[in-house]
Amino acid sequence: MKSLAFNCKTADDAVRGLDLSSQTILITGCASGLGLETLRALSQRGAAIVALARTRAAAERALSSVGARGVPVDCDLAEPTSVSRAIETVRGLGTKLDAIVSSAGMVGGKRLVKTHGIELQFQVNYLAHFALINGMADLLQDGTGRVVIVSSDAAMKQAPKEGIRFDDLSGDRTYSPFTFYGQSKLACAIYAKELARRLAPREIDVNSLHPGAVRGTGLNRRLAFPLSLVLKVASLFMKSVEEGAATQTFLAANPAARGITGQYWADCRVSKGSAYLDDAPLAKRLWDISSQLVARG
Ligand SMILES: NC(=O)c1ccc[n+]([C@@H]2O[C@H](COP(=O)([O-])OP(=O)(O)OC[C@H]3O[C@@H](n4cnc5c(N)ncnc54)[C@H](OP(=O)(O)O)[C@@H]3O)[C@@H](O)[C@H]2O)c1
Repeated sequence: MKSLAFNCKTADDAVRGLDLSSQTILITGCASGLGLETLRALSQRGAAIVALARTRAAAERALSSVGARGVPVDCDLAEPTSVSRAIETVRGLGTKLDAIVSSAGMVGGKRLVKTHGIELQFQVNYLAHFALINGMADLLQDGTGRVVIVSSDAAMKQAPKEGIRFDDLSGDRTYSPFTFYGQSKLACAIYAKELARRLAPREIDVNSLHPGAVRGTGLNRRLAFPLSLVLKVASLFMKSVEEGAATQTFLAANPAARGITGQYWADCRVSKGSAYLDDAPLAKRLWDISSQLVARG
């Protein structure tokens, strides 16, 4: 039986000894934190990177900061038109993709922020990636392609009791930053499992993951006092960025993960995940509503 637990502590461990020089890997959120570390580790093994960041300049900086080979693409995930443009840009490259890693994400502040009527974290963390990945899925290599979706254990610890609040995706009635962050990350994990089912006939592996609690990234920059102080103390016990990026780097390129799909991972091993990951009607409802929202623009 195939092992479902692997020994890789850092992103470099995850791809140690591999030759990725024939691979092209797209990464969102590549300008900082776990996305940048994933870009660094994969490009160091030879992969060409399609680097997505909020601005082209940020994507360019990310590539050049680690001497990576690749193409910078601007994609503001809060703006559906920017996401559509990024899809067109990537399609225009005329290249197949070996993997897509969605690492971009944000934690919202106390005040509700909406974009096009949708709560910002749901849009950036989940809905924009739903549009982006579905819009490029045909570019993935049949038989070997991979999709890696960065979720979080907030999908279990912080999401609403009912899973997804379909009747309040704007957040107008029930917004709290923690609950809506959890909801967006639960949506990511549900989407990954459903996409795995849909891409199985093409033998493309799709997995989601929790990177761990990681210090030194930009994620919690909006956290206000006293939580910012709590985080400072807690960060002593958190993973480094190199450790936090291990699982997503492993899933993007390590041959040992080949054929494992539809799973939720943590610490380079298949993990239990939310009970909602087994709720097929919920997954269908989320897919259908997301498709409608994306079509609306
Ligand atoms: N760090 C942790 O402890 C932890 C734990 C669980 C899950 N995660 C997940 O891990 C992923 C990476 O986070 P990180 O810790 O590496 O934080 P990070 O350093 O802030 O990286 C997130 C990236 O997402 C980008 N992003 C945010 N909003 C965007 C938008 N509207 N358009 C385009 N790009 C946007 C950010 O770019 P800008 O700088 O331009 O905003 C940033 O480069 C996230 O999905 C996060 O939810 C992290």
